[in-house]
Amino acid sequence: MRVAVASDHGGFPLKTRIIEELGKLGHETVDLGTDSTDPVDYPDYSRAVAEAVIDGRAERAILLCGSGAGACVAANKFKGVRAATCHDPFSAHQSVEDDDVNVMCLGARVVGPELAVELVRRYMGASFSGLERHKRRLGKIAEFEKEFGR
Ligand code: RB5
Repeated sequence: MRVAVASDHGGFPLKTRIIEELGKLGHETVDLGTDSTDPVDYPDYSRAVAEAVIDGRAERAILLCGSGAGACVAANKFKGVRAATCHDPFSAHQSVEDDDVNVMCLGARVVGPELAVELVRRYMGASFSGLERHKRRLGKIAEFEKEFGR
């Protein structure tokens, strides 16, 4: 799978480890920055991964900031993005299986590298169940985007 990865300065310390793990799992990565711990604005990196997912350069994304919160809030403003902050293994796979999450957000100041790698494995190993009840719920979210995405 092609996976876009981006971080702000808070998430940067984990980014290389995440990219390395994706490679080990056989995935192709698109690194959209940032490239140091110099302060940047996380919405710019949320935008970069959101656009990559929306225009098809990536099928999924992993987005890092310090807490996993701000970058996730920003990513969810883009139509077609379903981003979730996942700091436990259950959420990392269940959010894909039930909610068809396509951007997993991580807080590099919250999770250490070993847990982060485990979260990446669970996220990448999961696929959307396609169950009717989940499609119905996602359909309602898509309606919100139409109704309020003006
Ligand atoms: C940056 O200091 C920090 O605010 C950012 O990485 C993130 O945690 C925001 O939610």
